[in-house]
Amino acid sequence: MMQKHYDLFLACAPGLEPLLHDEVLALRPVSAVAEPGGVAVRGGLDLLHRVHLELGLALRAQLTVDRSAATRLDHLATHAATLPWHAWLPVGANVTVRAHARGSRLYHTGAIAERVAAGIAVRLGPPRAGGSEQTVYARIVDDHCALSIDTGGEPLHRRGYRQATAKAPLREDLARAALIASGWDRKTPLVDPMCGSGTIAIEGAWLARGIPPGHLRRFAFMDGPLFDPERWRLARERALDKALPAAPPILASDRDAGAIAAANANAARAGVTADLDCACAALGHAPGLRRPPSPPGAVVTNPPWGRRLGGKQPLRPLYQSLGTRLKELPGRWRVGLVLADPDFARDVVPGLKSALMTDAGGTKIYLFAGTTRR
Ligand SMILES: C[S@@+](CC[C@H](N)C(=O)[O-])C[C@H]1O[C@@H](n2cnc3c(N)ncnc32)[C@H](O)[C@@H]1O
Repeated sequence: MMQKHYDLFLACAPGLEPLLHDEVLALRPVSAVAEPGGVAVRGGLDLLHRVHLELGLALRAQLTVDRSAATRLDHLATHAATLPWHAWLPVGANVTVRAHARGSRLYHTGAIAERVAAGIAVRLGPPRAGGSEQTVYARIVDDHCALSIDTGGEPLHRRGYRQATAKAPLREDLARAALIASGWDRKTPLVDPMCGSGTIAIEGAWLARGIPPGHLRRFAFMDGPLFDPERWRLARERALDKALPAAPPILASDRDAGAIAAANANAARAGVTADLDCACAALGHAPGLRRPPSPPGAVVTNPPWGRRLGGKQPLRPLYQSLGTRLKELPGRWRVGLVLADPDFARDVVPGLKSALMTDAGGTKIYLFAGTTRR
C-alpha cells in the first residue's frame, strides 16, 4: 500500500533555516526545502511523530491540510466544511483560527477566521468543555488560501525542563544553535562561565549525548487521530536507547547563587545532573577557566547584554575580563559568544567571526565564533 505523505512547515528563528534543514535531513524525509522562516518537509506518519520528538531548532510545526482559491467569504466557510477535519483534529476540540491575508480580495482577518472556524465546527462539532486546545492557520496570499494545523501546540523550544529561570534566559533553540554554530565537536569539554539557568550547558549535554529534545513533553497532535501512541513509544525508546550514557565534561558557573540553583534544578529535570558540574563563582574564579579540563574544547556563553543599563560602557570591563581569561587557556579552544552588540566580540577574542545572526522577540542576536590563539 502506498504510504500517505504529510506536508509540514517547520518554522524557526530567522537565520537558523540552514541548521534546521540539516537537522531535518537526519530524519530522512521524502523532501526538505529550506525557505525563509523555516523548512518545508514532506514525509510519512513516522516523520510527523519524529519532528516533534527529535528536532531541537524548530519553533513550530504546521501540517498543511488544504490549498484552494479563495475570493469569497461564503465559499471559504462551505469549502472548509467539506474537509475531513475529524481525520486531523480531535472531535469536540476548542479550535482557534488565526488568519493572515496579503494581496487578496479577502482581507478582513477576523471574518476569514470566523468563516473557517464555522466550517471546521460542521465537521468537529461544538467545542466540549475541557476539550483539546488546537490552532488552525488560514493564510491567504494572492487569492489562494492555505489551511494548516499547529501540531506542536506550545512552542517547540519549550522542552519541559526549564521551569526555573534566572535573569534573561536564552531560548533553548537559540542555545542549541549557538552550540552548533560555535563549531564545538560535542566530544571535548564545554565551558559556560556565565551560565544563568544553565540552558547552554543542558542543551550541550543533550546534543553531545543525542537526547531527543521533545522526549519530556506533550504536543497538540497527541490529542487527535494522527497520534499513534505505539509509534511514539517506539520512536522515543529507540532515540533514548541510542543516546550516549554520558557527555564530555561540562563546566557551568555563574556568580549568582540563585542562577546556579535554577541550573541544577533544570539539569535534574533534563536528566543530565551527572553530566554538569555547576559552581557558584564569578568570572575570575570560574572553575572551567581557572582549571580548564583537557583536551581543549569550547567556551560557549551568553554574557549580560546590558540593554537596561544605559549604554554598553558599564559592561566593557566584563567582556575584557572574559577576553583575558580566554587568552590564558592552554591550547586552542573554540569560542562561541551570544551577543546583542557585535562590538563586544572584538574585546573578547580578536578575529572572532559572525557565525549566525538571528532575532528573539525583536532583539537582534549575534553568535560570534572563533578559536583562541595559542
Ligand atoms: C544573559 S544571562 C545568561 C543566561 C543563560 N544563558 C540562561 O539561559 O539562563 C548572563 C549571566 O551572566 C551572569 N554574570 C554577570 N556577570 C558575571 C560575572 N562577573 N561573573 C559570573 N557571572 C556573571 C549573570 O548572573 C547572568 O546569569
